[in-house]
This record gives sequence, C-alpha cells and structure tokens, in this order.
Amino acid sequence: MASRKGHFLELDRLYAHLQKAAKELAGFPASQLFNYSELFHFLKFHINNIGDPFQNPSHYRINTLNIERQVIDRFAELFHAPKDDYWGYVTNGGTEGNLFGLYTARELYPDGVVFYSDQTHYSIPKNVKILRMQGTVVKSTVNGEIDYQDLQRSLLTEKKVPIIVANIGTTMKGAVDDVVRIKEILSDLGIKHYYLHCDAAFFGMTLPFLPELEVQPFDFRMDIDSIAISGHKMIGTPIPCGVILTRKSNQNAIGSAVEYIGTKDNTITGSRNGLSPLFLWYELHCAQKVDFHTVIHACIEKAGYAVKKFNEIGIEAWRNKNSIIVIFPKPSEKVFKKWQLAVENDIAHIITLPHVTFGMIDQIVDHVAADLKIKKNGKNGSSYKKKP
Ligand SMILES: Cc1ncc(COP(=O)(O)O)c(C=O)c1O
Repeated sequence: MASRKGHFLELDRLYAHLQKAAKELAGFPASQLFNYSELFHFLKFHINNIGDPFQNPSHYRINTLNIERQVIDRFAELFHAPKDDYWGYVTNGGTEGNLFGLYTARELYPDGVVFYSDQTHYSIPKNVKILRMQGTVVKSTVNGEIDYQDLQRSLLTEKKVPIIVANIGTTMKGAVDDVVRIKEILSDLGIKHYYLHCDAAFFGMTLPFLPELEVQPFDFRMDIDSIAISGHKMIGTPIPCGVILTRKSNQNAIGSAVEYIGTKDNTITGSRNGLSPLFLWYELHCAQKVDFHTVIHACIEKAGYAVKKFNEIGIEAWRNKNSIIVIFPKPSEKVFKKWQLAVENDIAHIITLPHVTFGMIDQIVDHVAADLKIKKNGKNGSSYKKKP
C-alpha cells in the first residue's frame, strides 16, 4: 500500500495533469477563467440547500438559501421573468434544468408530446425517457437550427398537447431555434395549449449580453414556460452547476411539504449543493473580472478571428450568427484529443471561451491544417459540408 507521502505525490501528479489539460481545453463549454480563492474558507462547512429556496428555510441551517434566492432573482431579471410569477433554483447543470422543465411540463400535460430537433442535446431524449414521456424528433437545417417546415408538419398530425424544446444554442453547431417563428407556427395552427421550454445551457449566458437588435428574444418576453442555463459553461465554476427558471404558477402541482426537513421538497434532488449558489453569486457581484458584455464581446471577436484564420488557409470553417462555436472539418484523433475538441460525424468545433487565447487558436489552426493535409494526401472520404 502507498505511504501518505506516496498519496500526496499522486495528488501532485493529478494537479499537474489538470493544469495541463485546462490549458489545452478548446472544444468543450467550460470556462477555465475564474478565481474563487476568496471563498476558500467556506469549504469548512457542509453547505446543503435542501428544499425550496423560496419557502421557509429548512431545519438544516447550514445553507446558502438566501444567496440562492438572490441568484435566481438576478437570472429572472436577465430573462425578463414576470416579477410576480417566477420560481427557480440552482441545479447541478443544464441536464437537471432540462429534466425539471420537462417534469413540470409532464405534470401540467401528462399526455403531452415533446418535440425537439435532431441537434438537441442528448439530455433531452434522456430526460424524455426517464419521465416516460413521448418524444418526436424534428429535422434540422444545415446550420443546426430546427427545420420549421418539418416542425409545422409534425405538429399538424399531432393531436396531443405539444411540449416544445427550443435550442438556444445547439451543442455542436451553436444554432439558435427561432422562438418567434415557433410561436408563429403554433398560432397559425391554432394551437392554444402548449408548453415551451428553452434549453439555453450555453447561450443563456452569452446572448443577453449582445446588442438587443441582433438577438431574437427567446426568454419570458416570448411567454415561455421554463428555461435552463448552465453556470459552469460561460460563467465558469469549479463544479458543474446551473439554473432553472419556471413560472411560479406552474409549480403548485410539484412537490410536497416534508416535516423532517421543515420545508417543501420540490427540487429534483433532496440534498442540494449550497456552494454553487455561492460561486454564482460571487461571480455576479464580487468577481474582479470585467463585466459580461466585455467578456462576451471578446469571445465573439476571437471566434471571428478563428474563422478567418482557418479560411485564409483554405479550411472551410464557419459559425452561426452571434455564436462563439467555430465549426471545421474533423481532424485526426491525435489532434482532437490533444485540444479536447468536440467532434461529431465529419465536424469538429472549438469554442472561443474566455480562457482560449489567440495563441491557442493559432496553434489549433496549424495542427488542424497539417493534419488535414496528411489526410488529403491519403484517402479523404470526408462529406463535410460548409454552411450554405
Ligand atoms: C445545449 C445543451 N444543453 C444541455 C447541456 C447539458 O448541460 P450540463 O452538462 O450542464 O448538464 C449541454 C452541455 O453541453 C448543452 O450544450
């Protein structure tokens, strides 16, 4: 068995590995640029936010429920939730937010059918399965957006209440489903009862900081029912987290009072991580870094730079409008593993998050170029399609 010293050496090795891996992360949405060292002393407590953050605090007093409510209030403001009709909590991430949105929809419409595009994150079909709901997959267009004609066709033949998931930033292509258009389709078909959930896991923290004229509204101004956002993707936190926002009026059917905890149990998990609300609150109120507008604009600029660098040497890279996800032909495993690029079929992408530097982009472009040249000289059966 290894000695105590041996175990510490193992920790040192792990730390060195994480340090290197964080410097070579370019394809997954997890910002590495944050500093929570001013919160280290909170690690001395087991902080547990069990129960509803908006009800009586639970009997377990070692919590950050007050801070959590403030975080939800800030997100409610950001997404224009009606002042007297919102509710939410800090989740474990986008997947839990999506689960809660669909759970609410199912409680309201037990026979409802979930409509989502084939570019939707895998958490949606997974949650549909967990909740034993019925799902219908709608086609997507080349840029990754839901195919509105196919949506209209699918809705036309469906007699049950539709529960629609709009992607506010698809995982691979960063495409945004147009909520305005989806609502027009519902209206044209005379569908009055429906549930609209927005999966804004990543772009929920980029689009609100871009000029209003550029961005189609996708939040409660469009009368949506719920929205899920990740905390660790754009904001950056040491552990995964997120936020779910729904309408308070839709929550009556969910959860029940539990004497043992002294509050209402209406969240997906019982014990809940009380550190994440603290990280989000700190980032929203006390962090030293410049404001989100500046941060997001710098990311957009780097995405434009990456597309230009690829295109200059003949690699057909592209991105959707307002997106910081840059798509290009999939390189070899050696390259995509080194830079932790996300890959699917013939495409790969980088995400120009705050920690991704111009220098990293230059290196990635060089590596991909060298690699694709080798591929081209061999057999290149790629069916990669540039955005039309
Ligand atoms: C669009 C979208 N939704 C949901 C998720 C799941 O989020 P999480 O990993 O925080 O559970 C992701 C993750 O990448 C995503 O891109």
